[in-house]
Amino acid sequence: MPDLAIIGGTGLTSLKGLEIVRREVMYTPYGEPSGPLTHGILNGKQVVFLARHGYGHNIPPHLINYRANLWALKEAGVSRVVAVAAVGGIATALPPGGLAIPDQLIDYTWGRASTFFDQDLTHVTHVDFSWPYDAGLRELLIRACRKSGIEACEHGVYGVTQGPRLETVAEIDRMERDGCAMVGMTAMPEAALARELDMAYATFAVAANWAAGRAGLDVIQMEEIERTLREGMERVRTVLTTLVALL
Ligand code: HPA
Repeated sequence: MPDLAIIGGTGLTSLKGLEIVRREVMYTPYGEPSGPLTHGILNGKQVVFLARHGYGHNIPPHLINYRANLWALKEAGVSRVVAVAAVGGIATALPPGGLAIPDQLIDYTWGRASTFFDQDLTHVTHVDFSWPYDAGLRELLIRACRKSGIEACEHGVYGVTQGPRLETVAEIDRMERDGCAMVGMTAMPEAALARELDMAYATFAVAANWAAGRAGLDVIQMEEIERTLREGMERVRTVLTTLVALL
C-alpha cells in the first residue's frame, strides 16, 4: 500500500519521474475527487498522486471537492500527504520562485464544505488543530530540501483566501499585519480534513508572484506567474524525489 500521497497544485498536474502503475477512479460518500488517483513508483517508492485542480487544471480553488479528495486518499491507504501549493509571497523572504514549508495557517475562506463531522451526529467532535501541519512530515521536507541543496523558508504562516480572484492590496496589508508570510487558496479545508482523517499533512509552497501591492508592483501578471511556476516546480520535483528516499 502507498504510504505517501502528493497533491499537486497549480503548475504541478503531473509528476515527472513517476512511473505510473495504474489510475484508480474513486467514488466517495462525498462525491468524486478531482480526478483518478495516479498510483506509481517514485525513486523506488510507491506513491499516489492527485492533481487538486483536475488533470486539465479546470477546477477552481473554491469548487474543489476537498472532502472527496482526502477521503479517496485515505481509502487508498495513504497516511501522509504532501500538498504542493502555489502561493503569493507576502514576506520579503518569499520572492517569486521561493519555496516554503509553512508551520501555521490562518483560514480566511468561507462557504466551503470543511468537515467530515456533519452527518449522523451522535456527539460533537473537535479535532486539535493547534499545529495544522505535521511536525514529522515538515521535518522530512526540510531534510529533503537541505539534502537536495535547495533553499526553502522553513517556517511561515499561510493565509488561505477564498479566491478565485486574487486579493486587494488592503487585504494583503491586513494579512501581513496578521502575520501571514504567504497567501494561497487551497490549504483549507484540505489541512483540517486530513487532520480529521488522522493523516499527516504538510504543505510545500512555491511563490508564484509577489502578493498584491508587495515589491511596489501595480498589478500581478499572469504570464509571470506561469513562467515562475514552471521553474519552481522543477525544484519541487527534485525535493519530492529526495523526500521519498527518506521515508
Ligand atoms: N494570492 C492567492 N493565491 C495565489 C497567489 C496570490 O497572489 N499566487 C498564487 N496563488
